[in-house]
Amino acid sequence: MGTKKDYSKYFTGTAPSLKEAKKRSKAAPQVITDAFEIPTDMIEAGKGKTFFIRTYGCQMNEHDEEVMAGIFEQMGYLRTEEMETADVVLLNTCAVRENAENKVFGVLGHLKALKRERPELLLGVCGCMTQEEEVINRILQKEQHVDFIFGTHNIHRLPQILRDALMNKELVVEVWSKEGDIIENLPKTRNGNLKAWVNIAYGCDKFCTYCIIPYTRGKERSRQPEDIINEVRELAAAGYQEVTLLGQNVNSYGKDLGTEYRFADLLADVQKIAIPRVRFTTSHPWDFTDEMVAVLASGGNLMPHVHLPVQAGSSSVLKLMGRQYNKDSYTELYNKIRTQIPGVAVTTDIIVGFPNETDEQFEETLALCKELKYDGAYTFIYSPREGTPAAKMVDNIAEETKKARLQRLNAVVNDHALTHNQAYLETVQYVLVEGTSQKNDAVLSGYTESLKLVNFEGPASLIGKIVPVKVTQVRTWSLYGEYAGE
Ligand code: 5AD
Ligand code: SF4
Repeated sequence: MGTKKDYSKYFTGTAPSLKEAKKRSKAAPQVITDAFEIPTDMIEAGKGKTFFIRTYGCQMNEHDEEVMAGIFEQMGYLRTEEMETADVVLLNTCAVRENAENKVFGVLGHLKALKRERPELLLGVCGCMTQEEEVINRILQKEQHVDFIFGTHNIHRLPQILRDALMNKELVVEVWSKEGDIIENLPKTRNGNLKAWVNIAYGCDKFCTYCIIPYTRGKERSRQPEDIINEVRELAAAGYQEVTLLGQNVNSYGKDLGTEYRFADLLADVQKIAIPRVRFTTSHPWDFTDEMVAVLASGGNLMPHVHLPVQAGSSSVLKLMGRQYNKDSYTELYNKIRTQIPGVAVTTDIIVGFPNETDEQFEETLALCKELKYDGAYTFIYSPREGTPAAKMVDNIAEETKKARLQRLNAVVNDHALTHNQAYLETVQYVLVEGTSQKNDAVLSGYTESLKLVNFEGPASLIGKIVPVKVTQVRTWSLYGEYAGE
């Protein structure tokens, strides 16, 4: 065994630790309203300079990117979409599966050459991967061209960390392995002026046995209702047409607030705000209450789409995953949602190849999908995450078997997606028009209330509006139609 090198000189504070990150105390999270501040010597640090951010992973990360962009812009930096010419390059990473991590290490390799050409380039890594000590060690050993690293809990410290990196020839690492606070005074430069993300809760306490998120994002902590409501009101006043309430598990919103106020109450309050569309993601079936179903069923601006990750269709696998529901209780909830919320679309996440998943257990997942007929599903091959309980489980299933299972599952999922879309044929759907289609500039594109992608021909003046579209053709992943307005 080789001796472990001492990298402590690179760390501001202690080294990242998943073991520390796992701890949960009973203490209420702190709401801090003055943590973010740009030091006076950094106010003009970015004058005449550019930043580039590449984000991997979930919506939470996308929203973090908006915060980081806001911070860069307050220091005078301008955004660029060209990594090759940027003065600061920041990789905002995801740790949920190994292939997401591999992509980041691939880009870091590519950046080695760029850094050689332009040594003044500042290269940063942040996001969920940097909360993992294994990743930090690998960067310290093999990717010494990185200049600065920070984690998910100290985004507000970006100006100070950047200052350290500018003054320091050596790698700066500042990662906090703690439960996390709620920082309320962060700037945001939103990507777009129609749809906005609104954080309602951070972290996750579910500790599903395969999942790294409770370690990388800390303890479950809810923002104060009035902070969320004010943010949605401001977005509505600024002309936004849609908000998506974000949390690793929105359904457990409020449990840490010390009041009776829960996610159903928040939905009811946001329903009263004059913003045309409200969505939310993501929901754990465990905490999905009847009150939530009832408020969603009352409609208004609450859009009829529920993402309800099932993960597996075998109750014994669900038990090993630590999901706290079984096939029957999930089915009961699913049916309640389907029957009570008018026009609802239900999508899901499924993992195949959990350690030692047998053929019979996989067949149960397939059978459940055939029974429930989702509108769509994100399907994944299980990826062991160091530090999680499942990573220690023995797994004798061949990779080929897992790939074959994924293919069979996808065939079933796609089949149902198409069937659901066919039911939209000849109907008129309301579409929030976001812009032109990726494939054809002459075609407009947007989403229905139930979150189906629609492409249709119509004048560019419709962009930014919610308009009626008659569906004339359907495919597995999109609808095609014609403008049905005046
Ligand atoms: N391997 C594969 N998929 C995973 N997910 C979370 N952790 C893992 C893992 N270790 C999937 C789950 C989750 C989605 C965001 O990613 O399906 O719902
Ligand atoms: Fe991971 Fe489970 Fe939390 Fe979702 S609810 S983020 S799957 S631990």
